[in-house]
Amino acid sequence: MWKHAIITGGSSGIGKEIAKLLAGEGSNISIIARNSQKLEVAKVEITTHVVNLEQKIITISADVANRLEVENAIYQATKEVGIPDLLITAAGISYPGYFRELPIEIFEQTMAINYFGSLYSVRAVLPVMEPEKKGHIVMISSGAGLIGIYGYTPYCPSKFAIRGLAESLRGELKLSGISVSVVYPPDTDTPQLEEENKTKPLETNYITATSGLWSAVDMAREILRGMRKNSFVITPGLEMTLLEKLHSLLAPIIQWYMDLIVMKTIKSENTIKSENS
Ligand SMILES: NC(=O)c1ccc[n+]([C@@H]2O[C@H](COP(=O)([O-])OP(=O)(O)OC[C@H]3O[C@@H](n4cnc5c(N)ncnc54)[C@H](OP(=O)(O)O)[C@@H]3O)[C@@H](O)[C@H]2O)c1
Repeated sequence: MWKHAIITGGSSGIGKEIAKLLAGEGSNISIIARNSQKLEVAKVEITTHVVNLEQKIITISADVANRLEVENAIYQATKEVGIPDLLITAAGISYPGYFRELPIEIFEQTMAINYFGSLYSVRAVLPVMEPEKKGHIVMISSGAGLIGIYGYTPYCPSKFAIRGLAESLRGELKLSGISVSVVYPPDTDTPQLEEENKTKPLETNYITATSGLWSAVDMAREILRGMRKNSFVITPGLEMTLLEKLHSLLAPIIQWYMDLIVMKTIKSENTIKSENS
């Protein structure tokens, strides 16, 4: 059992479901996100899962893209609840679209939140975790962190970067007794996915339609299972497991498949346009 889990992005989706499961195991929990109202609603939900009255569930409003806000949030969580032995960086955003149509700010914001938000959180927690010579850091990447996907030019690089950070950091932190895990979730039914679906190019919709959809609670259970095994790589489901193990070999086949879907979509769109004109 973890004594104090700090979860960025713990007010919604996968992060919130992990918080609920950990609360059910007796952990104290600090959730960090921007929207205070959403945080308070999540706190009520998470609190219904606690198993003893001493458990602390606290909320901190902070933007993970802002280093000082992250440092203050981790400081506050440590002061109020105690030294964390678990950090989960689940805060993230995704705005799919056509590369040339998306404003540059989307690329900058996605990298700032998804990648630097994770990096700032890890850096802020280490000064209190390292002296304890124990702890676990779990970074949420994505299947889109293993292979580039049509329509995801802002998101994929931010998730590739998390993979790079986790892989290079793992060995360094092992020497301090701190474990690192990196998670590659497939599509999961959360508010983020709902948002994505609003701007996803038609081609991307067809490409991603072939994979199944996980519920957030099943995803959270699978992530916790991997954490308990102390796995460095956590790949929920067979598809992600194969992709993680074989992505370089599979890339040409997946790219061929994506190109095929893109061509078919363009062709059918052109037919519809010419029929309507
Ligand atoms: N859902 C999927 O299909 C899927 C698949 C693969 C990977 N993932 C990854 O899993 C993680 C969780 O995603 P989810 O689907 O559970 O999303 P979600 O339901 O939209 O939750 C995202 C959380 O991140 C917080 N957040 C966003 N921007 C933030 C910022 N700048 N500072 C602080 N907190 C911020 C949100 O709260 P506020 O908006 O209030 O800040 C919210 O609590 C993300 O990293 C996502 O990329 C999701």
